[in-house]
Amino acid sequence: MQKKEFSVTPWEVKGNIDYERLIKEFGLSPISSLPRQFQENFLFRRGIIYGHRDFDKVIEAVKNKKKFVMMTGLMPSGKFHFGHALVLKQILFYQSLGAKIYIAVADLEAYNTRNPNLSELRKTAIEEYLINYIALGLNPKNCDFYFQSQRSKDSEKSNAYYGLANRVSRYITFNEIKAIYGDITPGKLSSALLQVSDMIHSQLPEFEGPSQVVVPVGSDQDPHIKLARDIIQRIKDYKFIQLSSTYNLFLPGLKGGKMSSSDATSYIALTDNLDDTSNKIKKYAFSGGQNTIEEHRKKGGNPDTDISYQWLRMFFEEDDKKLEKIYHDYKSGKLLTSELKQILIDKLNKFLKQHQEKRKKAEKLVDKFLLI
Ligand code: TRP
Repeated sequence: MQKKEFSVTPWEVKGNIDYERLIKEFGLSPISSLPRQFQENFLFRRGIIYGHRDFDKVIEAVKNKKKFVMMTGLMPSGKFHFGHALVLKQILFYQSLGAKIYIAVADLEAYNTRNPNLSELRKTAIEEYLINYIALGLNPKNCDFYFQSQRSKDSEKSNAYYGLANRVSRYITFNEIKAIYGDITPGKLSSALLQVSDMIHSQLPEFEGPSQVVVPVGSDQDPHIKLARDIIQRIKDYKFIQLSSTYNLFLPGLKGGKMSSSDATSYIALTDNLDDTSNKIKKYAFSGGQNTIEEHRKKGGNPDTDISYQWLRMFFEEDDKKLEKIYHDYKSGKLLTSELKQILIDKLNKFLKQHQEKRKKAEKLVDKFLLI
């Protein structure tokens, strides 16, 4: 059962993902040697960002202090959980490197594929996403946060964005669409084309002009990246610079498998209360430990399948030495599952307590992001 069957597409992620195989099948490049600024970020250092397309050009831009853009989008559905926060960590990192940040709220995509209630989508985007982003440190300076349904108050900018979305279809055939997406509905297709505009419109003269753009994503978004890259190569009207992308592992759900906003026992939300959080971890976090304490002391646990350990590695423990000690102590049986869970619970609760305080201040800053 542990084996091979998994699927990763923009519309569905399931099964046990074999990332080595994904790299081959998608044709990604593995992340190899990185300069210091990137090494200092544990997402890069630990291989949590595991693959890329044309990332060297981003590294060059940083090295040469050239202007570059980081672009991402969010799907405004459900609660904002730690899987989403992993993306935000990357946004903040690029903002600290001086990138101009573009963030699209994919409300039209959600409208066409899931929930046709734009005002509800807007509310979720602000209350669940934007406020958490701000509380986590997103700076309104150099940040263009927009809704797909409302690109800009500046009509020239808006026309440029929607105009581009409506011209890119010229450069792609239906057979190519089918090769990239398989079976696709009109709603999904129009969302994919709009997302192409999300990813390349910053290079239009109404925005930044030609510049390097990096789109950090989970692997499920790669088909959209491929489509955008094909179009960039063919489009005649502009000289767009080819897009770069990076791919991060999915933060696993509490019970192992996928973290999903539709299953509250698979995630911790950033607005969850502290007691619930402790209980959730104790009750649901999949353990790589043995059935009894005696057995655990003798045989040791398996940190590689243990979700508490994986969450520490991917999010909460920034200190490599401490993490390594936890790894070895758990593997040798010195550290028990209940103790490992407690390490995570303590970190998490400290984080949530501070975060929820910061959220109150963040609420007041929302307008700084919306008045563009
Ligand atoms: N399709 C993305 C999702 O499902 C959201 C999205 C819209 C996006 N536009 C984007 C992601 C541009 C990255 C870049 O989450």
